[in-house]
Amino acid sequence: MNWTTISNTPKPDEPAPNPADALPFSWEAARAELEGLPGGGLNIAHEAVDRQVRAGRGEAVALRWLGKNGERREFSYAELARLSNRFANGLNRLGIQRGDRVCALVGRIPELYIAALGTLKAGAVFCPLFSAFGPEPVRVRLVKSRARVLVTTALLHERKVRAQRGDLPDLEHVLLTDGRGAEPGVRSFHALLDAESDRFVIPFTDPEDWALLHFTSGTTGSPKGAIHVHDAVVAHRLTGRRVFELRPGDVYWCTADPGWVTGVSYGIVAPLANGATLVVDEAEFDANRWYAILERERVNVWYTAPTAIRMLMKAGTDLVRSHDLSALRFAASVGEPLHPEGVVWGRETLGQPFHDTWWQTETGAIMIANTRDRVIRPGSMGLPLPGIEAAIVRRRTADGVDLLGPGEEGELALRVGWPSLFRGYLDDAERYRQCFAAGWYLTGDLATRDADGYYWFLGRADDVIKTAGHLIGPFEVESVLLEHPAVAEAGMIGKPDAFAGQIIKAFVTLKPGHAPSDALRKELIGFARTRLGPAVAPRELEFVANLPKTRSGKIMRRLLRARELGLPLGDLSALETDEA
Ligand code: WT7
Repeated sequence: MNWTTISNTPKPDEPAPNPADALPFSWEAARAELEGLPGGGLNIAHEAVDRQVRAGRGEAVALRWLGKNGERREFSYAELARLSNRFANGLNRLGIQRGDRVCALVGRIPELYIAALGTLKAGAVFCPLFSAFGPEPVRVRLVKSRARVLVTTALLHERKVRAQRGDLPDLEHVLLTDGRGAEPGVRSFHALLDAESDRFVIPFTDPEDWALLHFTSGTTGSPKGAIHVHDAVVAHRLTGRRVFELRPGDVYWCTADPGWVTGVSYGIVAPLANGATLVVDEAEFDANRWYAILERERVNVWYTAPTAIRMLMKAGTDLVRSHDLSALRFAASVGEPLHPEGVVWGRETLGQPFHDTWWQTETGAIMIANTRDRVIRPGSMGLPLPGIEAAIVRRRTADGVDLLGPGEEGELALRVGWPSLFRGYLDDAERYRQCFAAGWYLTGDLATRDADGYYWFLGRADDVIKTAGHLIGPFEVESVLLEHPAVAEAGMIGKPDAFAGQIIKAFVTLKPGHAPSDALRKELIGFARTRLGPAVAPRELEFVANLPKTRSGKIMRRLLRARELGLPLGDLSALETDEA
């Protein structure tokens, strides 16, 4: 552990302390900060948009969109309210009912934000799909979500959906953001909006009604759909205020894509529910472009990821120093371990250290963080937020856990009871049940706590990997490789990478009659890329004579990884042969 500490640098325009934060914490008090709907209802989109308009912020900029070709469009809160009303009316006209799923497969374009908010207003469930997914991950998620509506572009529809429409009986309406659609069941998103009224009254939505569906991966089986309810907005708004200290008028930029949970919880809901201006950049990472955005837009609060921070560090300090980043008040990171050098580099070059934050798709909002009122220990994820009780535990075989003490390594657990905890995995009650023991939610992360209560990330307890901040499960990758006629078995690991944190490396054994060759290796990587998309496909692939397996036939990815990295092989008692 690195015991160097960093104090936060005060800024002249620091927000005044919020009096609410001086009181003892309660979720009830946090909930009372929201407006709610008549009769005890709660709706995320109401808090994010309509409430801001009612509070007199209608003319403030809600969304400042920067197109990849230099376009710039601003949407006021009032305009976003009207457009999302139109989309909600349109969904009603299409017969979409409370609880129905509306998926979006688009890049970071304004229509995504209109669709997300309109879907929530209509009482339907919004489910974002990452636009860099290939046809197979898209198909699996559309099938599992039983989406009735898909918002997408003509190109993404053509490349990833159209040929599979026959396998998607629930998908009634495809709405193209940039086309009219000549075939049945495909129509124009904008024509739908144009035909509707600006006015919409949000129907009663209960705090426990489903609102958001985010797919996430585990070691086994296809991706799981984590269900979040409208009550999650209590945590989104609160963490936006407590971690980022967001207040009306702030310019806030979250670089995560809304195809993943960060891009929705903190790329849409938290900033809007706090009345901030959300900057959205359609383009991919580019160091020059990013610094220009921070400078020109006068970004106050910035939420990004370690992979991007490493690439910015590589671009050098001369580049960052050539920009005026004096508007920046708070910089934070999430999604993968933030290396201590990144924290320190932030302080030295941006004037602000990066504040690491920890959470997951399942937790819905930030749980552990470095906030401005605490000293940072670079390399630590920080301290649990108010209202969050964390612990390091060891699972017992029965239904219990053993609580471990400072310095001991174990699984990170969180005491159940915060509003944005997921309410289920879609159609998989058993997997949901397995996430809990004795009133604790078990995160699947290995960590340790120091004597002062700071949490330190050690790794994952399972075989999922993080590549460029994206969580990828072995099942999806291995299943696609197994579809290739030459492949007998496949196993995937995360291989450390200086920029992406980890890259996906696959090991395959071949069927009789097929021999390893460079051409076949390239063919397999290409095959996987076409089906999975570049974000999910393996970057490296190695042929092996056999894969280490347990006696029950499960691939021991842990061993593949240890061999690849030259690490000790650990406990081999479960191995089926003595080949190791
Ligand atoms: C997993 C969750 C974080 C929300 C968006 C991604 C890893 C997350 C950190 C961190 C080290 C981190 C964990 C976690 N992770 N934050 N600050 N330091 N690891 O959500 O895709 O569900 O991924 O990301 O392993 O379990 P997700």
